[in-house]
Amino acid sequence: MARVVGSDLIEEARQRGRIVFELLPGDIVTDVARETAARIGIRLVDGPLEKPAVVQADGATTLRRVLHRRSPKWVAPSRAGSKTLRRYSKIAFVGSGGVGATVAHLAANADLADELVLIDIAPGLAAATALDLNHASGITGTRARCSGGESLSLVAGADVVVVTAGRARGPGMTRADLIDVNARVIRTAAEAIRSAAPQAIVIVVTNPLDEMTVEMLTATGFPRERVLGMAGTLDSARFRHALARAAGVNPADVQAITLGSHGEEMAPIPSLARIRGRSLQTFLTPEQIEACVTDAVMGGGQVVALKKSGSATLAPAHATMELLDHLRGARSGPVPVSVMLDGEYGLSGVVLGVPAHLGASGFISVEDLRLSEEEQAALHRAADAIRSRLGA
Ligand code: 2OP
Repeated sequence: MARVVGSDLIEEARQRGRIVFELLPGDIVTDVARETAARIGIRLVDGPLEKPAVVQADGATTLRRVLHRRSPKWVAPSRAGSKTLRRYSKIAFVGSGGVGATVAHLAANADLADELVLIDIAPGLAAATALDLNHASGITGTRARCSGGESLSLVAGADVVVVTAGRARGPGMTRADLIDVNARVIRTAAEAIRSAAPQAIVIVVTNPLDEMTVEMLTATGFPRERVLGMAGTLDSARFRHALARAAGVNPADVQAITLGSHGEEMAPIPSLARIRGRSLQTFLTPEQIEACVTDAVMGGGQVVALKKSGSATLAPAHATMELLDHLRGARSGPVPVSVMLDGEYGLSGVVLGVPAHLGASGFISVEDLRLSEEEQAALHRAADAIRSRLGA
């Protein structure tokens, strides 16, 4: 159908980063549109144009190539060959609520460990969940022995401890509102981990995430390599979901990461995001991209508002599994994780979500990605906010 091509369509093309505007047979082009195109440097070309060849590589491969050009060290996360997989003797879960129990369930099904131990102060909850998981093994055939109880001494000898214990947000609360109450929980858990599982890698999930990761680091006295905060994998998942919905593609077609804090200063990174290997502007308007950024930042709060009591469980559990998969060698490449920074991205002495390589001994190194100025500034703003909440 013939269109009237006005200056609005030309402006929109520019916002999408186009330098050519395709005119189709029958299009009526206004004089103002021609003037606008000439002024802003967009060429009007008679179409239909020959379409570029279909991109053969999947989104992940294309993103790997794009990011390699920007930072030769970048290797996008990908599943590793099974020969590098390691299986743990024991994983302990401090907190067996929605997130802890679901990670244990996923870990059992993925055959991550010989032994999965659940701990919770709610009488009977951890033991009941462990028994439930053992019953499920009659169908799933999983090998892990599950047990549960109320004592933190059950962390003894764990290779990995996943800490989800603490109060969850209620509607209207920010994650930061939980600092005081959950810091006490973390300190108590840290004491037990330090004395009974001194070699463990600790994954902190309790909110406010970055602040609680600092607490865990300080209270255990563990090196930064062995205290990781889970948030970036969750926030990245929410960002990818929002982009996929907006662009009308499958989430698997989207590659995107979110860095910064797990709070209002979260920093989704649109400049590195790709949909089917192409920049976001190919598919989405600036307003749509902005709405996806907002969805990533507000996603956790949206679940809290719907649930009325408690926060998200399923996506956080999968996001924790993503870190476990990196630690055991089932995935490789950098993954967003909260770690204590030591000069990376120009920041030190603060825990923040950054792309990092993980391995058998925990955190290995931070990947230095070339971020836009605005994205760099967002990381620094997040660091300042965390420091000020901790009174540092
Ligand atoms: C979330 O964002 C619980 O902080 C977690 O859903």
